[in-house]
Amino acid sequence: MKLQVKAGDITEQEVDAIVVNLFEGVSQPDGATKSVNTAIKDTITSLIETGEIRGKAGELTLIHTQNSIKPKRVLVAGLGPKDKFNQDSIRSISGAIVRFLNAKKIKTYSTVLHGGGEGGIKTAVAARSVGAYKFSEHKSKKQKQYIEQVTVLEMDNSKVNDIKRGLDEGVSIASSVSLARDMVNQPANYMTPSDLVDIATDICDGTNVELEVFDENRMQQLKMGALLGVAKGSVVPPKMIIMKYLGDAKNPDNNIGLIGKGITFDSGGISIKPSGGMAAMKGDMAGAASVISAMKAIAELKPKINVIAIAAATENMPGGNAQKPGDVVVAMDGTTIEVDNTDAEGRLVLSDAVSYGVELGLKRIVDVATLTGAIEIALGKVTTGAFSNNPELVRQVIDAGTQAGEKIWELPTFDEYRELYKSDVADLKNVGGRQAGSITGAMFIGEFAKDIAWVHLDIASTSTSPKTSGLITRGATGIPVRTLIYLVLALSKG
Ligand code: BES
Ligand code: MN
Ligand code: ZN
Repeated sequence: MKLQVKAGDITEQEVDAIVVNLFEGVSQPDGATKSVNTAIKDTITSLIETGEIRGKAGELTLIHTQNSIKPKRVLVAGLGPKDKFNQDSIRSISGAIVRFLNAKKIKTYSTVLHGGGEGGIKTAVAARSVGAYKFSEHKSKKQKQYIEQVTVLEMDNSKVNDIKRGLDEGVSIASSVSLARDMVNQPANYMTPSDLVDIATDICDGTNVELEVFDENRMQQLKMGALLGVAKGSVVPPKMIIMKYLGDAKNPDNNIGLIGKGITFDSGGISIKPSGGMAAMKGDMAGAASVISAMKAIAELKPKINVIAIAAATENMPGGNAQKPGDVVVAMDGTTIEVDNTDAEGRLVLSDAVSYGVELGLKRIVDVATLTGAIEIALGKVTTGAFSNNPELVRQVIDAGTQAGEKIWELPTFDEYRELYKSDVADLKNVGGRQAGSITGAMFIGEFAKDIAWVHLDIASTSTSPKTSGLITRGATGIPVRTLIYLVLALSKG
């Protein structure tokens, strides 16, 4: 699908469809909607009069123009009430439009920027929100992408360059999000730790992002006993993937680490999960997918900050050599851990990834993980949980989430909770019991961040969705890739 920006009159385009919009309650539209309405002999205003078009958010009305103008169809998109209109509305309606037109097998369409004119939102930002997605790689009959060409039309020539810049940024961000979605939707037999390495290699190829991959031997040398303990049950080799983008090489301390949980399949290990729903655990590498794909946009957008992504990748499987409940492992920083439940493996692999990040000299760490089922009980599928030792960084992460249209809410990390994951036989144990499951999981990881500013995002409930709506597609959502990119961009601006 090609995207372009042009100055011109929307009624003069040789395309299958043009898209205009309407706020709720407006009976006399202005701007592009007005000129299109005039060109098609007041069809839009008559449909408003009869109540067929109301401008409700997400309402889509297709009008065939019967050769009265060059475009074959006019799609009127409802934007909802003007006072509730924001970037989320733009994302939502853009997703709905692309899906709608694709279902009608439309190949080319031109659109005004929703909110670019009278929506009152900066044109460049509005342009960012165009996109569509479908995962059908393993379908014999592929879901076809019919749309070949989308043109954003702007009457005001002086705004075109601004829109182009916004669109380029939007395309970078959107393709990072799509990549993360593909990775998470991919079955575990197609998305092993080595497959993650291949994707990271592709991203780094031809850019200045430096790639380093640790194999089992290297991890042994570095004494990453917690990660290696999880990997023991599986026959596929674990990998630690490190991607370094140096956007401010002269100031090495101007940095942030994005660390992702990359369990390419979580069977639970010897503490095996029930079989019903286990297939969903192919998505237990969503954290790794997020940090790896965020690097793609970061490499393209070139912010002035050093960003290091670390993905800790392995399967969690039962097997003759698998670690057992009660085993004690020694993490990279020397902490001894009693593995009370082999299904609490995320915090084990992340402890070593975070320790490695600390050794690299990271000044800020954001770890991203499908860590606990309990986060869905606390926050449902609407909101990602945040946990932190640093009020400023967590505020910046939540703000980036707001900008990205990804909801994040902070939960506490009070010292009192530490009691819950103390072990009788080792320094820590990897489960904290029934209470505060998401908090103890998060705080366990936080122990390894020491006093470095750290935020943990638990995306166990938000990284996948049971339904399609707006920019969200059934299956992987790509959360929190947009948040991570906006965070890095915001931090790079100081
Ligand atoms: N990967 C799971 C968490 C998860 C659950 C992700 C549902 C996505 C959807 C994690 O490794 C896990 O098994 N957590 C356990 C922790 C428990 C053993 C302390 C859980 O949440 O039950
Ligand atoms: Mn698990
Ligand atoms: Zn897991």
